[in-house]
Amino acid sequence: MGYGLMTRILLLADVHGNLPALDAVLADAESLRPFHLVVAGDVVNWGPQSREVLERLSEVEAHFVRGNNEYYLLDRGTEREPAAWADYTLLPVLLEGLEDWRERIGLWPDFLSLRFPGLPPVLVVHGYPHDPWHGVYETTPPERLQTAMAGWTERILVTAHTHLPLDVTIGGIRVINPGSVGNPLDGDRRAAYAVLEGMDGEWRLSHRRVAYDDTPVMGAFDQIRFEERCGTQAVLVRREWPTAEIQLAAFNRWCAAEHPGVPREGLLERFTDEDRVRHTPPEYLAAARRNRELSSRA
Ligand SMILES: [Fe+2]
Repeated sequence: MGYGLMTRILLLADVHGNLPALDAVLADAESLRPFHLVVAGDVVNWGPQSREVLERLSEVEAHFVRGNNEYYLLDRGTEREPAAWADYTLLPVLLEGLEDWRERIGLWPDFLSLRFPGLPPVLVVHGYPHDPWHGVYETTPPERLQTAMAGWTERILVTAHTHLPLDVTIGGIRVINPGSVGNPLDGDRRAAYAVLEGMDGEWRLSHRRVAYDDTPVMGAFDQIRFEERCGTQAVLVRREWPTAEIQLAAFNRWCAAEHPGVPREGLLERFTDEDRVRHTPPEYLAAARRNRELSSRA
């Protein structure tokens, strides 16, 4: 790639073990060659094809940043594992057979600082710098982001984790989220990614969405007997694919707020769509509303 012409970077994130979504994105990007490929974390878990996704991304020479779901893989069963993970029924099933990948992901960085001649530097993380467990939203207070960016010279932050595409300036920092390849949560089930093109001293961003057939990923859930082995959490995770809406996190909030102390396995049948909406963070409802308005106008 010649400097002074154009530097193109594909931004992918939150693939979450969904191979058909990743393949659809890579096929869509074929016409954009040449490019560099940067993956902002959460390659594994949630979806059933973590290994397949890791292998495909290695084939295409992706550059990785670790997400919180990679931490599940790296810290599980070690002295670093928090006690709360014991209740997380998905982990043993979705991360099984990935032992060989622990070595390789152990070497991934937590951030990438992209520095190209003549272009503004870009910091890539999964959530915040030094914190892959929390995401930046359009509603994030400027002070919070400025505190997190103290000591970093980059004024462009590529972040992920929320599964919501974003391009907003907060407290002088341009925040870009490509959205989620494998598990979008803005009501639009198409795979999301973004393209950064550096030219004439600046970056231009475009968000892209790609429709794909999720039959293979649903079949992979069946193959590992996901619901049978992981219970309620699996039922709710699987529900996220056709709806592109938060299910499990909303259920957990609803249980904690309205049925404290009651065993969660027995509560699923009583969890209504109204309960889900009431316990979904407003940023997700707003994003889904915007998408509905856009598609009704189209
Ligand atoms: Fe994620």
